[in-house]
Amino acid sequence: MHQLYTFLVAIHIFAAIIGVGPALVFNRILKTAGNMHELKSAHKIIGKLNPLSSIGFGLLVITGLLMGLMNPSLFKTVWYVAALGLFIILGIYSAFTIEPKMKSMLNISEAHVGENIPQEYIQLLNKKAPHDWVQNALLITIFILMVFKPW
Ligand code: HEM
Repeated sequence: MHQLYTFLVAIHIFAAIIGVGPALVFNRILKTAGNMHELKSAHKIIGKLNPLSSIGFGLLVITGLLMGLMNPSLFKTVWYVAALGLFIILGIYSAFTIEPKMKSMLNISEAHVGENIPQEYIQLLNKKAPHDWVQNALLITIFILMVFKPW
Protein backbone atom coordinates (compact mmCIF):
# COMPACT_ATOMS: atom_id res chain seq x y z
CA MET A 1 0.00 0.00 0.00
CA HIS A 2 2.80 2.36 0.99
CA GLN A 3 4.76 1.44 -2.16
CA LEU A 4 1.73 2.05 -4.37
CA TYR A 5 1.29 5.49 -2.78
CA THR A 6 4.97 6.31 -3.42
CA PHE A 7 4.56 5.11 -7.01
CA LEU A 8 1.57 7.46 -7.43
CA VAL A 9 3.63 10.38 -6.03
CA ALA A 10 6.35 9.58 -8.61
CA ILE A 11 3.82 9.53 -11.49
CA HIS A 12 2.27 12.72 -10.08
CA ILE A 13 5.60 14.57 -10.08
CA PHE A 14 6.39 13.32 -13.60
CA ALA A 15 2.92 14.51 -14.70
CA ALA A 16 3.64 17.93 -13.16
CA ILE A 17 6.81 18.19 -15.26
CA ILE A 18 5.18 17.26 -18.59
CA GLY A 19 1.96 19.16 -17.82
CA VAL A 20 3.10 22.39 -16.21
CA GLY A 21 6.50 22.71 -17.94
CA PRO A 22 5.19 23.28 -21.50
CA ALA A 23 2.22 25.38 -20.27
CA LEU A 24 4.64 27.84 -18.66
CA VAL A 25 6.68 28.35 -21.86
CA PHE A 26 3.98 28.49 -24.60
CA ASN A 27 3.78 32.28 -24.43
CA ARG A 28 7.55 32.67 -24.49
CA ILE A 29 7.71 30.50 -27.65
CA LEU A 30 5.11 32.68 -29.40
CA LYS A 31 6.83 35.90 -28.36
CA THR A 32 10.18 34.85 -29.82
CA ALA A 33 8.68 34.77 -33.35
CA GLY A 34 9.80 37.79 -35.36
CA ASN A 35 8.02 37.00 -38.65
CA MET A 36 5.23 34.82 -40.03
CA HIS A 37 7.54 31.94 -40.89
CA GLU A 38 8.81 31.78 -37.28
CA LEU A 39 5.29 32.25 -35.94
CA LYS A 40 3.97 29.29 -37.96
CA SER A 41 6.83 27.16 -36.60
CA ALA A 42 6.06 28.38 -33.07
CA HIS A 43 2.42 27.29 -33.45
CA LYS A 44 3.56 23.94 -34.84
CA ILE A 45 5.78 23.35 -31.77
CA ILE A 46 2.94 24.34 -29.42
CA GLY A 47 0.54 22.07 -31.35
CA LYS A 48 2.93 19.15 -30.77
CA LEU A 49 3.54 19.93 -27.07
CA ASN A 50 -0.06 20.70 -26.16
CA PRO A 51 -1.39 17.09 -26.15
CA LEU A 52 1.56 16.07 -23.94
CA SER A 53 0.74 18.91 -21.55
CA SER A 54 -2.95 17.88 -21.48
CA ILE A 55 -1.96 14.28 -20.65
CA GLY A 56 0.19 15.67 -17.82
CA PHE A 57 -2.70 17.70 -16.39
CA GLY A 58 -5.04 14.73 -16.69
CA LEU A 59 -2.55 12.48 -14.88
CA LEU A 60 -2.05 15.13 -12.18
CA VAL A 61 -5.69 15.15 -11.19
CA ILE A 62 -6.13 11.36 -11.55
CA THR A 63 -3.07 10.52 -9.40
CA GLY A 64 -3.95 13.34 -6.95
CA LEU A 65 -7.47 11.94 -6.48
CA LEU A 66 -6.17 8.35 -6.21
CA MET A 67 -3.85 9.45 -3.40
CA GLY A 68 -6.88 11.07 -1.76
CA LEU A 69 -8.81 7.79 -2.04
CA MET A 70 -5.90 5.87 -0.52
CA ASN A 71 -5.52 8.39 2.27
CA PRO A 72 -8.98 9.97 2.86
CA SER A 73 -7.62 12.18 5.68
CA LEU A 74 -6.21 14.34 2.84
CA PHE A 75 -9.76 15.58 2.20
CA LYS A 76 -9.68 17.14 5.68
CA THR A 77 -6.54 19.18 4.90
CA VAL A 78 -6.83 22.74 3.60
CA TRP A 79 -3.94 22.43 1.13
CA TYR A 80 -5.40 19.37 -0.63
CA VAL A 81 -8.95 20.73 -0.92
CA ALA A 82 -7.64 24.18 -1.95
CA ALA A 83 -5.36 22.64 -4.61
CA LEU A 84 -8.24 20.60 -6.01
CA GLY A 85 -10.51 23.67 -6.07
CA LEU A 86 -7.84 25.86 -7.69
CA PHE A 87 -7.11 23.14 -10.24
CA ILE A 88 -10.78 23.06 -11.30
CA ILE A 89 -10.87 26.89 -11.45
CA LEU A 90 -7.69 26.82 -13.54
CA GLY A 91 -9.24 24.42 -16.06
CA ILE A 92 -12.42 26.51 -16.43
CA TYR A 93 -10.49 29.79 -16.55
CA SER A 94 -8.12 28.60 -19.29
CA ALA A 95 -10.96 27.09 -21.32
CA PHE A 96 -12.86 30.40 -21.40
CA THR A 97 -10.01 32.92 -21.67
CA ILE A 98 -6.77 31.49 -23.06
CA GLU A 99 -7.90 28.63 -25.31
CA PRO A 100 -10.33 30.63 -27.51
CA LYS A 101 -7.64 33.28 -28.06
CA MET A 102 -5.05 30.64 -28.92
CA LYS A 103 -7.49 29.14 -31.44
CA SER A 104 -8.09 32.51 -33.12
CA MET A 105 -4.33 33.21 -33.17
CA LEU A 106 -3.70 29.84 -34.81
CA ASN A 107 -6.40 30.52 -37.43
CA ILE A 108 -4.92 33.95 -38.21
CA SER A 109 -1.39 32.54 -38.51
CA GLU A 110 -2.59 29.79 -40.86
CA ALA A 111 -4.66 32.10 -43.07
CA HIS A 112 -2.22 35.00 -43.28
CA VAL A 113 -0.09 35.40 -46.39
CA GLY A 114 3.06 37.54 -46.18
CA GLU A 115 6.02 37.80 -43.83
CA ASN A 116 4.79 40.44 -41.38
CA ILE A 117 2.84 39.37 -38.31
CA PRO A 118 -0.61 41.02 -38.64
CA GLN A 119 -1.70 43.65 -36.09
CA GLU A 120 -4.82 41.63 -35.31
CA TYR A 121 -2.58 38.78 -34.12
CA ILE A 122 -0.42 41.04 -31.94
CA GLN A 123 -3.54 42.52 -30.33
CA LEU A 124 -4.80 39.05 -29.43
CA LEU A 125 -1.39 38.10 -28.02
CA ASN A 126 -1.40 41.23 -25.84
CA LYS A 127 -4.99 40.58 -24.72
CA LYS A 128 -4.01 37.06 -23.72
CA ALA A 129 -1.06 38.25 -21.57
CA PRO A 130 -3.00 39.13 -18.36
CA HIS A 131 -4.82 35.79 -18.54
CA ASP A 132 -1.46 34.02 -18.84
CA TRP A 133 -0.37 35.77 -15.66
CA VAL A 134 -3.49 34.55 -13.83
CA GLN A 135 -2.93 31.02 -15.15
CA ASN A 136 0.73 31.02 -14.07
CA ALA A 137 -0.15 32.47 -10.65
CA LEU A 138 -2.69 29.66 -10.13
CA LEU A 139 -0.16 27.02 -11.22
CA ILE A 140 2.51 28.38 -8.89
CA THR A 141 0.03 28.65 -5.99
CA ILE A 142 -0.97 24.98 -6.45
CA PHE A 143 2.71 24.03 -6.66
CA ILE A 144 3.47 25.89 -3.39
CA LEU A 145 0.48 24.18 -1.71
CA MET A 146 1.85 20.81 -2.87
CA VAL A 147 5.37 21.40 -1.58
CA PHE A 148 4.62 23.08 1.78
CA LYS A 149 1.26 21.39 2.46
CA PRO A 150 0.11 24.10 4.91
CA TRP A 151 -2.75 23.17 7.27
C1 HEM B 1 -0.55 22.27 -11.08
C2 HEM B 1 -0.92 21.16 -10.50
C3 HEM B 1 -0.07 20.36 -9.57
C4 HEM B 1 1.29 20.33 -9.39
C5 HEM B 1 2.35 21.14 -10.12
C6 HEM B 1 1.56 19.36 -8.35
C7 HEM B 1 2.81 19.05 -7.88
C8 HEM B 1 3.09 18.19 -6.84
C9 HEM B 1 4.39 17.90 -6.30
C10 HEM B 1 5.70 18.49 -6.83
C11 HEM B 1 4.24 17.03 -5.28
C12 HEM B 1 5.34 16.42 -4.38
C13 HEM B 1 5.42 17.28 -3.15
C14 HEM B 1 6.20 16.67 -2.02
O1 HEM B 1 6.01 15.50 -1.73
O2 HEM B 1 6.98 17.41 -1.41
C15 HEM B 1 2.83 16.75 -5.16
C16 HEM B 1 2.28 15.91 -4.21
C17 HEM B 1 0.93 15.65 -4.10
N1 HEM B 1 -0.10 16.20 -4.83
FE1 HEM B 1 0.13 17.50 -6.39
N2 HEM B 1 0.37 18.81 -7.93
C18 HEM B 1 -0.65 19.40 -8.63
C19 HEM B 1 -2.00 19.15 -8.53
C20 HEM B 1 -2.58 18.31 -7.61
C21 HEM B 1 -4.00 18.09 -7.46
C22 HEM B 1 -5.08 18.74 -8.33
C23 HEM B 1 -4.16 17.21 -6.44
C24 HEM B 1 -5.43 16.65 -5.86
C25 HEM B 1 -6.38 16.12 -6.60
C26 HEM B 1 -2.85 16.86 -5.93
C27 HEM B 1 -2.56 16.00 -4.89
C28 HEM B 1 -1.31 15.69 -4.39
C29 HEM B 1 -1.04 14.75 -3.31
C30 HEM B 1 -2.07 13.96 -2.54
C31 HEM B 1 0.36 14.72 -3.14
C32 HEM B 1 1.16 13.79 -2.18
C33 HEM B 1 1.36 14.43 -0.86
C34 HEM B 1 2.18 13.50 0.02
O3 HEM B 1 1.60 12.55 0.52
O4 HEM B 1 3.38 13.76 0.18
N3 HEM B 1 -1.90 17.55 -6.67
N4 HEM B 1 2.15 17.47 -6.11
